[in-house]
Amino acid sequence: MLPSKPLSLAVIIAAAGSGKRLPGSVPKQWRLLGGIPLLAHSFRFFDAFPGVQQFAIALDAQTLAMSERTGFLVSAHGVNVRLVEGGGERQESVWKALETLDPAPDIVLIHDAARPFPPVDGVQLAIEMAVREGGAILARPVTETIKRVNGNGLIIETLDRSVLRAAQTPQVFQYGALMRAYEKFVGQLAQFTDDAVIFEAAGGKVLVVNGSENNFKVTHPEDFERAENLLK
Ligand code: CTP
Ligand code: MG
Repeated sequence: MLPSKPLSLAVIIAAAGSGKRLPGSVPKQWRLLGGIPLLAHSFRFFDAFPGVQQFAIALDAQTLAMSERTGFLVSAHGVNVRLVEGGGERQESVWKALETLDPAPDIVLIHDAARPFPPVDGVQLAIEMAVREGGAILARPVTETIKRVNGNGLIIETLDRSVLRAAQTPQVFQYGALMRAYEKFVGQLAQFTDDAVIFEAAGGKVLVVNGSENNFKVTHPEDFERAENLLK
């Protein structure tokens, strides 16, 4: 039997944030980690990932005009790289990037620039699950007991940790179904905190696959130190 046609993958990297929780002279995705911008780590990972044919990378307007800063966003493997102006909230940035994908891929992977160390095996599995079910995201079991509290900090409820997962990226979807989900909620995107919730709200099925502890999101200054230590 002939092998079936390989999947075409598109990668969106959300890199248009201002990084308020990690103060410094440049937004965190441009801060150097191991001598290259934080964003370069995930860019290189997906550039080398089998089946990736195009990137759409959301950047803020100011950075988009700075070719000296974005010059490294060139594929070493012939992947088409498109730089796109992002929006005010993450999901708006993702939507603007999604709209530029051409040709339509089979599968789209959406990743945070702030996660420099995605795991190959987890990403591969998420792609397989998205092909099968519609969507799949990397996620981790929750290690701390989670309390639901009211506005005064009074505990309302202690949640059952065994059924909780902390969402990571990439979040992986069948492209056509994801576009229909985003289209349905255009204008309300700011209320959603990740891509999976939009897909779920549109009735899509999203599986979790085991991510990796090292796939943390660089958020606070101490996370940058953790990332530096991992590189050593
Ligand atoms: N992001 C984006 N567009 C936005 C906001 C965020 O593309 N309008 C991206 C960020 O650049 C980051 C990812 O979404 O790679 C995850 O967001 P987060 O870690 O919250 O980054 P920031 O919003 O930049 O940081 P902060 O919330 O601390 O301001
Ligand atoms: Mg943010």
